Amino acid sequence: MTVMASYEKFDYSTRPNKRTQRKMIFDALARYIAVFPRRRFGYVGFGSMWFADFLYAHRRLGLQSLTSIETPEGFRRAAFNRPFKCVRMVEGYSSTVLPSLNWRRPAIVWLDYDYKPESESLQDLSYLAGEIASGSVLMVTYDADPPWNEDATPDERAEVIRRVFKDAAPPQLRRSRRRKSKVPHRSSYAPTLTALLWSFLENELVRNGRAGADDLAWLPLFSFFYKDGAPMITIAAALLNSRERAIFEEGNPFKGLLYALGERLFSIAIPPLTLRERAELDRRLPSRTVKLPFPLAEEQLESYRSLYRYYPLLAEVDL
Ligand SMILES: C[S@@+](CC[C@H](N)C(=O)[O-])C[C@H]1O[C@@H](n2cnc3c(N)ncnc32)[C@H](O)[C@@H]1O
Repeated sequence: MTVMASYEKFDYSTRPNKRTQRKMIFDALARYIAVFPRRRFGYVGFGSMWFADFLYAHRRLGLQSLTSIETPEGFRRAAFNRPFKCVRMVEGYSSTVLPSLNWRRPAIVWLDYDYKPESESLQDLSYLAGEIASGSVLMVTYDADPPWNEDATPDERAEVIRRVFKDAAPPQLRRSRRRKSKVPHRSSYAPTLTALLWSFLENELVRNGRAGADDLAWLPLFSFFYKDGAPMITIAAALLNSRERAIFEEGNPFKGLLYALGERLFSIAIPPLTLRERAELDRRLPSRTVKLPFPLAEEQLESYRSLYRYYPLLAEVDL
């Protein structure tokens, strides 16, 4: 059986929550790079066929040295769609391509996997934790659907987590006698996965010695959850030495950015609204109190209020 590649199933430029997340990410990144004006950041990611993240990285952030990695199956099609001359295309799996790239300059790296964590992609994270230059930002996206069936027992669930995350699995899962209440259920898996990834990154920096020798630490920037079908999480961390950390704190670039919550998950859940409803809402925002001429659940109103600046407006155009 051949598995259909994600770019054959989804148009990554139109998925509304992902699209919103992308805008929020690049808004935060624009603020981040502004506190390091003399650095020339590179960008490394998976542009797929649409290069939606690369369009932002070049147009919005002004980055000039961009590298897109694509699997051998999708490479020719991706290369055909390369949006700018400054985007370098590299064919292969990230596990083999990442070690062939030059990591001396600070980079913004987005490993936008469309699947669940497994040893190969976690190996990519380990590799990057050991190689990226200080000042770099590492972002990773994973499918947060639990890797077990509905009827899996707590022991089976704990076993799956231990198999994938090894040392980063919480101690109560690593011990042979487990407290059953600590094993996540399906509904609470996204926060668990997020916490596992943060602890994985932390462990890697200690394991490779850079935390001590190079005075480096992760600064968690943001963690997102959204669902356009499958539940997805994205985390982003900057790798900073103490001088860069002081510059970041002094610049305070995320002031007022409500979703830059570090390791805490921010949920993106755009309420489905008609164009008329949206126009009525927009006319009243920003404001704490909104009286609407149509019924809308308070929760949905709150969600729209917090994200409306990023909410995509999509329309069909007959050309
Ligand atoms: C989720 S899409 C990227 C979407 C894009 N970042 C965006 O913002 O819209 C992932 C793409 O990366 C490719 N891909 C996934 N895992 C990969 C890996 N380990 N190495 C190379 N390419 C990979 C897939 O074929 C797909 O085209």
